Amino acid sequence: MAQIRLDKYLADMQLGTRSEVKEMIRRGRVSVNGSLIKSPDIKVDISCDRVEKDGTPVIYSEYEYYMLNKPQGVLSAARDKKAKTVVDLISDKKRKDLFPIGRLDKDTEGLLVITNDGELTHKLLTPKFHVPKTYYAKVEGEMSEDAVGLFKDGIVLADGTKTLPAQLEIMAKTEDITEILLTIYEGKFHQVKRMVEAAGGKVIYLKRLSMGRLELDATLKTGDYRPLTDEELKILKGEVQNA
Ligand code: URA
Repeated sequence: MAQIRLDKYLADMQLGTRSEVKEMIRRGRVSVNGSLIKSPDIKVDISCDRVEKDGTPVIYSEYEYYMLNKPQGVLSAARDKKAKTVVDLISDKKRKDLFPIGRLDKDTEGLLVITNDGELTHKLLTPKFHVPKTYYAKVEGEMSEDAVGLFKDGIVLADGTKTLPAQLEIMAKTEDITEILLTIYEGKFHQVKRMVEAAGGKVIYLKRLSMGRLELDATLKTGDYRPLTDEELKILKGEVQNA
């Protein structure tokens, strides 16, 4: 049973600033369980109380979960003074406290979940769960079948750290470019780029395709987003069920 102040309830759902919704309440435009309420500080139970503004129900969403197909050039952060962030792209969000689950580099595209569920985020990013993440990359330079074995054993990066075993699949090869799928089980800084570099290549395009069993919706255009379905949320939570 989570109880919050009525004015916070309305402000959280973007009906106005805290002072605007207080005024709204004082003017008798808000009812709770059918009774007009004129004091902004009464507590409402978000799980069962029925709040209406001008007769229209206001449903509280405590947590929001979006799947974003991150475009290049956008920062994986909640907010930034100068740069556009992934949260800025969620234009019809209700909550102001959204953030991305993990980070993708500015020039990386693909699957990013945006939420305000701190507990789930913390669990998904906890190294001990080794949630797999699969990336598609275009690589310039050397990327031979030998790398498959090197990655399988865990590869030593330029700074001497060794990665966990990872799965590499070479999908296509032209004279200059190799297309790969790489699944990693941790989230070191620039991990895919550094692993590829350690094998003699250079990533020139990177896109995340999945996180655990949650896959990027192939119909989502780059830069587009949509709420996670109940099924997808279940899948995501299932990755860290025994946390
Ligand atoms: N590895 C990288 O190098 N960059 C990303 O954005 C994600 C994984």
